[in-house]
Amino acid sequence: MTLLERLRERTGPWHRRLEAELSLLTPGSDEHVYARYLGKLWGFHAPIEQALSLVTGLERTGLSVERRVKCPALVADLVALGLTRVELTRLPRCGFAPQPTDVPSALGCMYVLEGATLGGQVVCRELRRRMPRVLERASSYFTIYGAETGARWREFTRVLGERPGDAREEAAVVEAACVTFQGLHRWLVERPSAVRAARGGDARDAVVREAVLAREGAPLDG
Ligand code: HEM
Repeated sequence: MTLLERLRERTGPWHRRLEAELSLLTPGSDEHVYARYLGKLWGFHAPIEQALSLVTGLERTGLSVERRVKCPALVADLVALGLTRVELTRLPRCGFAPQPTDVPSALGCMYVLEGATLGGQVVCRELRRRMPRVLERASSYFTIYGAETGARWREFTRVLGERPGDAREEAAVVEAACVTFQGLHRWLVERPSAVRAARGGDARDAVVREAVLAREGAPLDG
């Protein structure tokens, strides 16, 4: 079994859970749900992208982290949806997002975040059908690679396929992908709204936010 096949097999159940449970695709989701979703995605990607940019040797695999960051697109969408600069700086970051420190853990993590650009095309089509005007002004994240989506994914899987195939390294890639999916599920499905928290939130959100911050550490950007 190739590394890609193992990744698919091991993370498949997490993918199916996310697909089934995302609030974004439930009936009645609207612009606010969309903004909340993007805010939470930012909170998950920001700490990971920072960690990925510091992983020694990742660029030598041929993958450019810089060309694959998602935070600028997420910020552009959030601004287009009306978030202010102050609200953006208050978006909570996920305190338990994976922190890749070497090439195998970085590749496992990237498998999840890069793979999401494939499913993103399906999600984007559905969102466009439901709220065309909103997507017209805010679809940078879901269309991040545009016509290059397939080519970027093939480039990523080629790098995965070129790894030496050492069993310990492969296990580390798969483990990191599982941890990333699990963390994303916990953050997106089980956690309170990031955008409402950034806006001061309602009483319940404020309490939950305090509790979350106390448990997981304050957001890095205050
Ligand atoms: C944050 C949520 C999501 C993440 C992290 C994610 C992750 C992934 C990953 C890693 C892959 C690559 C699988 C592989 O080929 O090895 C993938 C593919 C795919 N995802 Fe998702 N996904 C997410 C949400 C969704 C949703 C909500 C849908 C559909 C409603 C979806 C539909 C798909 C489809 C159709 C593919 C396969 C595309 C193809 O083979 O061309 N995904 N996703």
